[in-house]
Amino acid sequence: MAEEWIGTHTDMFAKGEGVSFAITLRETKKLVGSIGLEISKEHSRAELGYWIGKLFWGQGFATEAARALLHHGFQVLNLHRIYAHHLTRNPASGRVMAKLGMSHEGKLRQHMMKWDVFEDVEVWGVLRGDTSHIASADFSPGVDSVSSRLNDCKH
Ligand SMILES: CC(C)(COP(=O)(O)OP(=O)(O)OC[C@H]1O[C@@H](n2cnc3c(N)ncnc32)[C@H](O)[C@@H]1OP(=O)(O)O)[C@@H](O)C(=O)NCCC(=O)NCCS
Repeated sequence: MAEEWIGTHTDMFAKGEGVSFAITLRETKKLVGSIGLEISKEHSRAELGYWIGKLFWGQGFATEAARALLHHGFQVLNLHRIYAHHLTRNPASGRVMAKLGMSHEGKLRQHMMKWDVFEDVEVWGVLRGDTSHIASADFSPGVDSVSSRLNDCKH
């Protein structure tokens, strides 16, 4: 299943429909998690998604990686909007999105079925012109060092 998922990345990257990165420890290159953008070129927007291995939770990895990816999305990919969603019962992910300076845009009631249970979903977003994500980001000199931790998934 994982191989199938990873296998979709090359094609998406080639078509400009997505970018995926491995999140690794700077020193050892150990895999911590993954992060990516699923791009809609037509609407100049992308959906941010990420996961962090349980062993590494609570150390700021999701926030640090997502901050670098927002920067990449707006500055390099020239996107207009980046949004993300998380299950309502996973507030840690909402906290990450709030720390990024994303705005909470609403709740989609029973939007997803997971393991036979309908789950509420929270939606967050940020626009290119918003300053909230910039104010919340420490781009100096962080972005270069953070970006160096985001190793391209060998597209
Ligand atoms: C959500 C997830 C990505 C967090 O990764 P992480 O690297 O631990 O995140 P960070 O350390 O950057 O930040 C976590 C924040 O949530 C907070 N938090 C943790 N548990 C929480 C809870 N139950 N309620 C509210 N906040 C919580 C932490 O205190 C921290 O905030 P702080 O810096 O203000 O203290 C990780 O738990 C995960 O991979 N979950 C499963 C997949 C998922 O939900 N993906 C998101 C879909 S886009």
